[in-house]
Amino acid sequence: MTMKSFFLLVLGFGVLLAGAHANEQSELTRRAKIDALIAEMTLEEKAGQLTQFSDPGDITGPAPSGSRDKKKRKLIKSGVVGSVLNVVGVENVRVLQKIAVEESRLGIPMVFAYDVIHGQKTMFPIPLAEAASWDLDLIEHSARIASIEASAQGINWTFAPMIDVSREPRWGRVMEGAGEDPFLGAEIAVARVRGFQGEDLSAHDTIASTLKHFAGYGFVESGKEYNRADVGTITLHNIILPPFRAGLERANARTVMNSFNTLNGVPATGDRYLQRDLLKGEWGFDGVIVSDWGSGIEMIEHGFAEDERDAARLAILGGSDMDMESFIYAPKLPSLVRDGVINEALLDDAVRRVLNLKFDLGLFEDPYRYIDAVREETQLFTAEHRAAARKIAQDSVVLLKNEGSLLPLSGTESIALIGALADDKDTPLGNWRARAVRNSAISVREGFEAAGIDFDFERGARLEIGEATFGSEIAINVTDKSGFEEAVTAAKNADKVVIVLGEDALQSGEGRSRAEIGFPGVQQELLELVYDANPNTVLVVMSGRPLTLTWADENVPAIVQAWHLGHEAGHAITDVLTGAVNPSGKLPMTFPRSVGQVPIYYNFLNTGRPDPNQPVFWAHYTDEENAPLYPFGYGLSYTAFKYSNLRTRKRDDGVEVSVRVKNVGDRAGAEVVQLYVHDQVASISRPERELKGFQKLTLDAGESSTLTFMLTKKELGFYNARGDFVFEPGVFDVFVGGSSAAKLNKEIRVHFALD
Ligand code: NOJ
Repeated sequence: MTMKSFFLLVLGFGVLLAGAHANEQSELTRRAKIDALIAEMTLEEKAGQLTQFSDPGDITGPAPSGSRDKKKRKLIKSGVVGSVLNVVGVENVRVLQKIAVEESRLGIPMVFAYDVIHGQKTMFPIPLAEAASWDLDLIEHSARIASIEASAQGINWTFAPMIDVSREPRWGRVMEGAGEDPFLGAEIAVARVRGFQGEDLSAHDTIASTLKHFAGYGFVESGKEYNRADVGTITLHNIILPPFRAGLERANARTVMNSFNTLNGVPATGDRYLQRDLLKGEWGFDGVIVSDWGSGIEMIEHGFAEDERDAARLAILGGSDMDMESFIYAPKLPSLVRDGVINEALLDDAVRRVLNLKFDLGLFEDPYRYIDAVREETQLFTAEHRAAARKIAQDSVVLLKNEGSLLPLSGTESIALIGALADDKDTPLGNWRARAVRNSAISVREGFEAAGIDFDFERGARLEIGEATFGSEIAINVTDKSGFEEAVTAAKNADKVVIVLGEDALQSGEGRSRAEIGFPGVQQELLELVYDANPNTVLVVMSGRPLTLTWADENVPAIVQAWHLGHEAGHAITDVLTGAVNPSGKLPMTFPRSVGQVPIYYNFLNTGRPDPNQPVFWAHYTDEENAPLYPFGYGLSYTAFKYSNLRTRKRDDGVEVSVRVKNVGDRAGAEVVQLYVHDQVASISRPERELKGFQKLTLDAGESSTLTFMLTKKELGFYNARGDFVFEPGVFDVFVGGSSAAKLNKEIRVHFALD
């Protein structure tokens, strides 16, 4: 059948169904169209729909062989490519879509995918930073803008949000997630998916969202990238899976990406339990599972598949619908069916999912829907988008320490601004900078200039040597200290020092695990010298992960965690340092005192020997404290909040908790009020604390407000080792406050049945 006759067939279905109710009709029409298409497709075309290629010029994984690249366009013409990634810009997209639609036999449009992780052209804070805002509206808005910009460049599918819960600051990819907590992670997953997909996925400015990586990637052993993960069922169901469930149930994410890692010995791409039994079975997911880049073929290295054919067999049996860049489905699936090794129905099911996605995106109605040169001209990097990026960047900053009220800056003091990162216009863009222009962020130095601050700048030392790129290892300066002397002199001559230290954008992200998580290179030495020269030092930390800031915390009076905040970083940091904005961010990940404590997280299970009054034989280190440097949920403000009147009241469906929060300082500020629960006795040991609610509120100086939370079966129950959700009546502790170390608490007895 030619493309023309296919569309006549489709038209025929439309006439046939003309009498039916509109919604039902479109559903029936869609199903009929998909059935007709599948019936028409050859095995090669089916396997092709399940194949995704990267644009040869812009790769986000190991480069494929050159010969295969040359073939890619020919393959599109033969109708054996369902989707491409990394092709960006309306003209580039148009060229390939035209081949698929006008030159292939069935004319099936392709989906254009891209890693739109924290912005397309306007860079927003890295996701870990945005999580520190705990502001779900801002986070949703950030994803919305990313989706407007990406779709204006022809993209209709993003591989985001990354929702891997992780307790591993050594793992570079924590920059891409929402941190260590499943509750916060679930809320943020929902916000991000809603932002990307909007109300109507077929609209020209909304794009399909991907929940990734399914599953366990955040638990890679020793934080080493691509490593194996061994996770028990309780951790799997209570910690890793909740953001996935939420993103599907509450926001209807249309796609899920599996993962590079093995989970309990099975590569995620071939994991039948995860993909078929759980996701598509128990959870009823009807969208597309896409593999990660080459994760199909990597099952050979894992020692799970014998060869490429076996890898294709195992991936499709495992439930992985679309193969990204392994190039095993297109060449291997047809013969696997012909040889009777796998059932064609498996291909049909996967193809149906892919075609459904294309219908959802409106591509069958108009394959060129996302190709609009006017939008590309007018909707990128707009003033409105930059203003939104500045707002969320301000709210993502976390004030870690402020002794002697060094901050906010008074505006009358002289300042020495020190550190290569203070003058860096690139690092704030973050790791997944999509289509951002290199060196286009506002640096701290520029932020100071724009605010009219009186300062002298000294770099002190370079952070990296040469140019860092996404596809190459970064070289850090470990020897050149030639600028130290000037930096020390500048520090001595100023009233206060603002020193900006941390990681280059390309020291976190994929393939960027670190064994030591202090300041790289000669920065720690610079910090100590500068602090000696002038103790009135404010340390601003730019990083994509929690760093070990223990020396700084013990010495430096003021510390600001500023992550990689996107295009508006310099303005946002200046806004916070000057007090134009009162910081309100709270840590989404625990900051360890030393790397030996890792993994360290707030929702741990107690040991049988927690008592610090016992000599030797209790759960501790002989050379380090148990407590982290800064706990999950922690962050200061230029004002202070007092919590009181913690009350609990029995309700039909649970327990209502109320608390009074008062701004007891002298300026307005925002506080993230956090509610934690501890189940004292249960059929399995339960975490010491678990976040079960939060609300962000702004209070004027002296103002107070009473907030209420509900604890239902959902918040008080848990998944048992079989993966069943259970609620067990009993005694629970409730904690409310401004961090996971909140002290205000009350015991509740929940002995009534909760529905
Ligand atoms: C590999 C990463 O793990 C994944 O998250 C990303 O979406 C793909 N590469 C595509 O770039």
